[in-house]
Amino acid sequence: MNASIPVITIDGPSASGKGTVAQLVATQLGFHYLDSGALYRIVALATHQQHIAWSDAPAVAECAKNLNIVFVDEQVLLNDKDIAYHIRTEAIGKGASQVAVHAPLRAALLDMQHHFCRAPGLVADGRDMGTVIFPKAPLKVFLTATTAVRASRRYQQLMNKNQAANYDDILQDLLDRDARDQNRTSAPLVMADDAILLETDNLTISQAVDFILQKYHRFTQFPA
Ligand code: DC
Repeated sequence: MNASIPVITIDGPSASGKGTVAQLVATQLGFHYLDSGALYRIVALATHQQHIAWSDAPAVAECAKNLNIVFVDEQVLLNDKDIAYHIRTEAIGKGASQVAVHAPLRAALLDMQHHFCRAPGLVADGRDMGTVIFPKAPLKVFLTATTAVRASRRYQQLMNKNQAANYDDILQDLLDRDARDQNRTSAPLVMADDAILLETDNLTISQAVDFILQKYHRFTQFPA
């Protein structure tokens, strides 16, 4: 990895809005974008298709090593087939959180994530971008919101897509996923010591984006 390429990491829990915010920050800066959660979702889908149990750590990691993944604009190609829609279901999100506990899988996905770091820069979102994958990133943000606000946002998203949604189920699913992501031993969801906390309960998406852009521009003027 080239240390001179600027990296902005945006970590946080499920449904915190970090994906939308990270993508917009990347577009504004003309940077590349890594949606690391998509990688875990792809692995959950691929293992499911190959009848591999999400609890089977060695088999899940082996499957991940052989995947041919390409991101093109809004498309996510797995072996040349667009699976962008299929990895966004609640079931696959839950599966992603289950496969993500396995250290051998996380190791198998390391190089792929580092390869996203290309000039002129990278915005990477996930759970361990600032702590494990890009620990030297000059700007790290931990983006979060209360569980109730995140559940409402997820509920609204599903309603907008005309997908069946039950608020109580969504809330319970978020609590389960937070617990699994925070309590696993390998790269748990935790705020990096040098990250900036961004609470978005009372922020619009564009306010969150502007906050990060301001921090980034301040950093480029006055590097630490
Ligand atoms: O960000 P997301 O909801 O698409 O992520 C789905 C799951 O993938 C999440 O519950 C935990 C896992 N994940 C991870 O362990 N590490 C990352 N860097 C990104 C996601």
